[in-house]
Amino acid sequence: MFQSLQATPADPILGLNQQFQQDKNSDKINLSVGVYQDADGNTPVFRAVKAAEAELLELQKSKSYIAQAGDARFLDGSLDLLLGADKVRELGDRVAAVMTPGGCGALRMLAELLVQTNPDSTVWVSDPTWPNHFPLLQSAGLKLEKYAYYDLAKNGIDFDAMLQDIEKIPAGDVVLLHGCCHNPTGADLTPAQWDTVLEVMQRNGHVAFIDVAYMGFGDGLEQDAYGIRRAVDLLPEVIIANSCSKNFGLYRERTGAAIIISDSESATAAAKSHVMAAARRCYSMSPYHGAGIAGLVMSNEAYRQDWIQELGDIRDRMNRLRIDLAEGLNNAQSVMDFSFIAKTHGMFCFLGIPEQVVLDLRSEYAIYLLNSTRINVAGLSETNLPVVVEKVAEVLSR
Ligand code: LMR
Repeated sequence: MFQSLQATPADPILGLNQQFQQDKNSDKINLSVGVYQDADGNTPVFRAVKAAEAELLELQKSKSYIAQAGDARFLDGSLDLLLGADKVRELGDRVAAVMTPGGCGALRMLAELLVQTNPDSTVWVSDPTWPNHFPLLQSAGLKLEKYAYYDLAKNGIDFDAMLQDIEKIPAGDVVLLHGCCHNPTGADLTPAQWDTVLEVMQRNGHVAFIDVAYMGFGDGLEQDAYGIRRAVDLLPEVIIANSCSKNFGLYRERTGAAIIISDSESATAAAKSHVMAAARRCYSMSPYHGAGIAGLVMSNEAYRQDWIQELGDIRDRMNRLRIDLAEGLNNAQSVMDFSFIAKTHGMFCFLGIPEQVVLDLRSEYAIYLLNSTRINVAGLSETNLPVVVEKVAEVLSR
């Protein structure tokens, strides 16, 4: 049966990470996949996650199924974190959440919901966007189109072009926005720009589909929620895919939530039932372990404070590395001005160098970044940063 099958092309992110793992060069540097690494190159378990996990294992009396929508403590905690407790109270049953296997699970289940609601739905994504948005959403049956976002020539958002494109999106279509820490560019909308985009979407009757995978990695948990909260204030229908992979460090536990907000309790209930039905036909129910841990961290004040502290330390370190990279590159070469890097948010930014430089860095120095020139800032360290600066400057200046 499988004799005639051709292997699929490697995933642009996971495939490159795999290539890195197999590289025998002992000086190799991994700036590919979005995973946080500390100064020693490890991806540590958050202190509060470790403690909550131990408590959970100790107290857990059963492995029986939980409610189909998922763990209430996790879902309530996620809603409060994203929307703010006051807003959650105000929305009442106009907001609903379903636990999902990671942010990808949430994106896919919400895509299934959109296809059920309108098989002709078009989702507009930023140009560029996270490469996996395409297979993940298109294979559910959605059509994807791009709106202008990042200007490679200017190394920043082309806001006028973005607005012009959003203005042209037909009523009822869905606009996918990155809640914060845009992947792959790290270029985020300012609060004023969020307001403007969302006002256009409100006027034109668009649905907001917000992907939030890096909350807390930008300017802080509250600040990073600005766009999401503003969207919920302005638009009648907002759907949110939330991931706990990065901000709780729960990557392999596949922890996330699909969130639906509408202007009527019955519409939200119906949409939630469709998300649960989609989950049932794909994998039945989401895994519990990571959500159980995150739910406990968010609901226990001591764990919660410790988690916020550790997340803040990680954010500060990444911001220092980002500034050091920008300054280092500017001091080491004169081909390009890299000051824009210091203004980016979250785990990623584009270097904006020619693709050949990316390929040469990989083949000659085992420095791995995506062909798009995206680097994972969290893959830099106090030790490898000078090497990255030196090699990028050298190859770029040839
Ligand atoms: C990334 O963009 O590197 C991460 O979100 C990991 C992934 O699954 O692609």
